[in-house]
Amino acid sequence: MPSSQDFGLGFLAGFLAAVLVGFITSALLSTRQDEYGLGHWKLNIKTPLRSMWMNVGYWRNEQGEPIEDFPEASAALLREVINTAGFAKGDGGKTAILDLGFGCGDQTWDLVQLMHAEKSGFQYVGLSLDQYQVRAAQRRIHRDVTAHTAMGQETLSAVHLFCADAARPETWNRQISESVESLSDQAFSERWLLALDCIYHFKPSRKPVFQLATSKLHANLMLFDLILNDQASAKDIFFARLVSIIMRCPVKTFMTEPEYRQQLEECGFEPESIVMREITDHVFSGLAGFIQRQDAALAEYSISLGGFKLAQRLFEWFDRSRVVKAVIVVARAKQK
Ligand SMILES: C[S@@+](CC[C@H](N)C(=O)[O-])C[C@H]1O[C@@H](n2cnc3c(N)ncnc32)[C@H](O)[C@@H]1O
Repeated sequence: MPSSQDFGLGFLAGFLAAVLVGFITSALLSTRQDEYGLGHWKLNIKTPLRSMWMNVGYWRNEQGEPIEDFPEASAALLREVINTAGFAKGDGGKTAILDLGFGCGDQTWDLVQLMHAEKSGFQYVGLSLDQYQVRAAQRRIHRDVTAHTAMGQETLSAVHLFCADAARPETWNRQISESVESLSDQAFSERWLLALDCIYHFKPSRKPVFQLATSKLHANLMLFDLILNDQASAKDIFFARLVSIIMRCPVKTFMTEPEYRQQLEECGFEPESIVMREITDHVFSGLAGFIQRQDAALAEYSISLGGFKLAQRLFEWFDRSRVVKAVIVVARAKQK
């Protein structure tokens, strides 16, 4: 006859066996349910990706029709900036470009193709803050230049992409400083500083790089930026300052147009040459609408747009309130 101790051990063993069987059964069942979800979208996308643009876009084509596609709108923003500046419409001489915040190289490639089509010699120096983006851009340029039948080593050696804080020239190493300063060579008939949707991030401010453009490079300026509506109420200005903190920009990064013009003049740009072209109508509503459509399209694959949904709300507010406006800025360095 089993003792009470045997009975206790038998009960415990039976209990543990039941827990184990339950655990294995539920693990098997839950594995079965999760085995095929929608996560294999990663296996079905084609790489390299068509593009890695990440600007706010200009959501109209050259005929003034709406653009629905993000890479097309991003490229259109570059097109509007260079058309406003009259860039590459010169004498076919050599062009120098210092491009700040070039992202993953889409704009670099567009500019390389433009220079190639114009048959004008060029030197391009790009500075961007994120090392992963810089590497992606280097791979992209190498891949596209080598695949192009009429481009080769000469084109590759005209493009220099560096990881650097473009807002703080004093932090650049010797190689970067020399590369940037080489753009001041008088052999270049045009010298340009380009900043496509990035300069509002610059800490402590835009000033150091504006001064570098005029004093060392004698370069003209073409950029896309965000400015503060000079009619904004104290409450709206407070919200705009809050937004700049959320965007991890300097608190006072959004300047009014008169403040912006004054800063450009103080940094050595010709006041009469300054163009500030407002393009708000063709920027924020197009981007907010696109994010909404993309969110719905990706939801079919259980992919979430995450933080971009918050950005959508912000762009809708920019569009509705006009507290923060989208502008293209062009200015010519004062003649020495
Ligand atoms: C909105 S994205 C625009 C990227 C690219 N121009 C485009 O149109 O796709 C802003 C870019 O500016 C870069 N950036 C921000 N602050 C920077 C800084 N201080 N120096 C260099 N790049 C900076 C970011 O890393 C990012 O690549």
